[in-house]
Amino acid sequence: MVAELSAQITAQIKQAAVMLKSAKSICVLTGAGVSAESGIPTFRDKQTGLWEKFRAEDLASPDAFARDPKLVWSWYQWRRQQVIDKKPNPAHLALAQWQELAAKSGLTFTLITQNVDDLHEQAGSCVHHLHGRLWQNRCNNCQKIVKQSPNPSNNAAQALSDELINCDDCGGILRPDIVWFGEALPEIEWQIAENAAADCDVFINIGTSSLVYPAAGLAQIARQHGAQVIEINPHPTPNTIVNVTIAAPAGRALPKLLKQISAL
Ligand code: OAD
Repeated sequence: MVAELSAQITAQIKQAAVMLKSAKSICVLTGAGVSAESGIPTFRDKQTGLWEKFRAEDLASPDAFARDPKLVWSWYQWRRQQVIDKKPNPAHLALAQWQELAAKSGLTFTLITQNVDDLHEQAGSCVHHLHGRLWQNRCNNCQKIVKQSPNPSNNAAQALSDELINCDDCGGILRPDIVWFGEALPEIEWQIAENAAADCDVFINIGTSSLVYPAAGLAQIARQHGAQVIEINPHPTPNTIVNVTIAAPAGRALPKLLKQISAL
């Protein structure tokens, strides 16, 4: 049986719902925590976080790929293997439902993610990826984009082989189409995110440690332009610009929040 949310969390959800009920424009930024309840590890949670076990500089930087492309490629193939059978959890589903409801009511609802998995898409959301996509490769030489099928039945063993793949066009090596440390964010996605943050009435940070910039700066942009900021995270961050914190897992908090907004 799922335990009831505490009185304190219920009160936080009510406070957030009141704020959101009158909002005409909402901007949501998700991080690894939104996929945690689907069984995908976060990066910085103690014990389970990926960067607790692996060194980011060995695996997620252009230098690392130049030094040892096979090591980096194998690690991302391993990560693909970890997420291939993962499904959206109630947090992804609630966000997709919210986006649909907002569209029907003529409200603006922009969903931005730092996640490279495709669980928001699987849930039915329209989402902007700031840090790239796990199921997409890019030629390290000519930059051509090559999709990689996440379908487990679609010859997954071959698709997830550790062998490096050469670009059909120029012969360069394919790399995951993921933004690595030291690389710029995709320009169009960032512009959409910055505009949505600047124009929203309420900005919601969900499941992110708010440590990685520029994504972490979106809440500040929103705040500077007069928006209220909500954070949903069972381990609230030291983010001082937050107006309301909902200290609960996203999969528990979001369905309740949505219900509360429609009950008002
Ligand atoms: P982090 O691992 O830094 O933070 C995950 C956050 O999720 C933490 O604050 C957790 O407390 C919170 N969390 C855990 N379980 C949760 C749950 N069920 N519901 C809500 N929150 C939960 O992940 P990010 O902030 O996404 O970059 O990391 C940002 C970037 O750093 C990533 O996109 C990645 C990484 O290096 C790239 O891959 C380019």
